Amino acid sequence: MGKKNIAVFASGEGSNCENLIRYFSGSDDIRVALVLSNRTDAYALVRARELGVPSMVVTKVELNDESVMLPLLRKYDISMIVLAGFLPIIPDFLVNAYTHRIVNIHPSLLPRHGGKGMWGHHVHEAVKAAGDTETGMTVHYVSSVCDGGEIIVQYSVPLSPDDTPDDIAEKEHELEMKYYPAVIEQLLEEL
Ligand code: GAR
Repeated sequence: MGKKNIAVFASGEGSNCENLIRYFSGSDDIRVALVLSNRTDAYALVRARELGVPSMVVTKVELNDESVMLPLLRKYDISMIVLAGFLPIIPDFLVNAYTHRIVNIHPSLLPRHGGKGMWGHHVHEAVKAAGDTETGMTVHYVSSVCDGGEIIVQYSVPLSPDDTPDDIAEKEHELEMKYYPAVIEQLLEEL
C-alpha cells in the first residue's frame, strides 16, 4: 500500500507544520504531501519550500469553493487535513467530505479559552487573566462550530502564578512539539 498523505493547513509561523513534515519524513506510511495557506506571507510556506513539500496559497473564495478544494485534495490523494494554526473557518462541504479526517490543535484545554478570536497569543493572555493553574493543548476534530468539534486528546502542564503569557505560550508550545505528530500518526493508523 502507498503512503497516506496529509495536507497541513497553516496561516502563520508554521512551527507545527515544520515539526509534522520532519516527523513524517522518517515514516514509511505517512507523508505531508501538501502545505496550504490562506496567507501569502505565512512563514509556514517558506518552511515547506525549504523542506521540499509542495505548498500553495488559496484565497478565501477558493477555500470556500468545493469545485476548487475537493479536486485539489483529490489530486494530492489527501487522507487527512491537519490544521496547524489555520485561522479561517473550514467550510461545511469540507467538514462533510472529510468527516473525522480534519483535525485541529488548539493551545488551551478546551472548552476553556476557545471560540472566535481565541487563537495564538490571545489564548495565553486569557489563561493568564483567568489565573488558571494549568494550561495545555487540545487536539480535536473539526466541526462547523469554531473550536467545537469532538475532543480527541488533551495534554496539560502546570502553571505558576508568576508565569507571564509568554511563559505560558512556551510551556504549551512544548506540548505541541512533543505530542501533535504522534497523535496524528495514531489517528491515521486507525483510519
Ligand atoms: C499553535 O500554538 C496552535 O495551537 C495555535 O496557533 C499556533 C500556531 O503556531 N492554534 C490556534 O490558536 C487555533 N485556534 P505555528 O504556526 O507555529 O504552528
